[in-house]
Amino acid sequence: MSNPFIRPALFLSQMLFSIITPPLLMPRIAKLRFTRLFISFCFGRAYGNRYQNIIDSFQGRYGLAMAEGLARAKEIAGDGISVVADCGTGTGFVTRQAAEQFPHATFIAFDILEGMLTQARNNCKDIPTDVFYVQADAFALPLADQSVDLLLAQNTMPCFAEFARVCRPGGMVIYVDSSAGWIANIAKRLVEKHRLFERVMGERVDLGFYVLACKTSIEKEPSKISIKGKTKQQRLTSLLRCPLDKSKVIVEQDYLCCEHHHRYPIHDGFPVMLERNAISTTK
Ligand SMILES: C[S@@+](CC[C@H](N)C(=O)[O-])C[C@H]1O[C@@H](n2cnc3c(N)ncnc32)[C@H](O)[C@@H]1O
Repeated sequence: MSNPFIRPALFLSQMLFSIITPPLLMPRIAKLRFTRLFISFCFGRAYGNRYQNIIDSFQGRYGLAMAEGLARAKEIAGDGISVVADCGTGTGFVTRQAAEQFPHATFIAFDILEGMLTQARNNCKDIPTDVFYVQADAFALPLADQSVDLLLAQNTMPCFAEFARVCRPGGMVIYVDSSAGWIANIAKRLVEKHRLFERVMGERVDLGFYVLACKTSIEKEPSKISIKGKTKQQRLTSLLRCPLDKSKVIVEQDYLCCEHHHRYPIHDGFPVMLERNAISTTK
């Protein structure tokens, strides 16, 4: 028997996302400390342990917009996707979905909350590709400039300036809102307004929409990003950068240390690359 609360729950989520998403696409509003605290509270702490129930309430429709965005990205890039970042990974839903489409890529799943990364790691245990989990703020990603082929962000903070910084020339960003389809064109226009990408596409899909933004390729054949190292940890550190000064990091016991003396703790296997957690080792 169908659950009588599903329809009202979906309606409420559509209303909520339709109200929240357009202002978040305006950098001046998204960057406000209040906005960021509110969003990480709502989408992390308040719903955190119940987020899987929200996904279930969509009865299989939650991933439809992202699935179309991923299929389109594959059409454009072919096999040229080797590093994928999932920002605000939550339960790891998008990482799982994208790993099916790009099974040979390396994934980095970021979330601002450790509890969500734990859920993502549990849910993605059986993914055969390399997935790294890193606690980080999507506004200050611990990644080098132009180090990612594909960046995914679904129902989370759309930090397009930061996404454009880490996306390589010829790379792509897919932003999805899974329940506010009717604002697809507004969202597309707001992303175009940033002028960070060469081409922006937007499509309404079922209850939601995706925006696919492509960065100009300066070379004819954009070079593949190389991930160096024999161990998983070495491969991860070859990708990460200090979020404060963007210098390289190395592992030292339970910390990641950057060239300019910032140290970040590793908790339960997750590097905590939040600016506020950086320990400065210079006097
Ligand atoms: C609504 S959930 C969506 C999770 C996942 N993307 C999905 O579609 O199922 C939003 C996630 O974004 C995370 N988040 C919110 N603000 C963030 C920020 N500034 N940086 C990184 N993650 C953030 C929350 O902790 C939460 O896990």
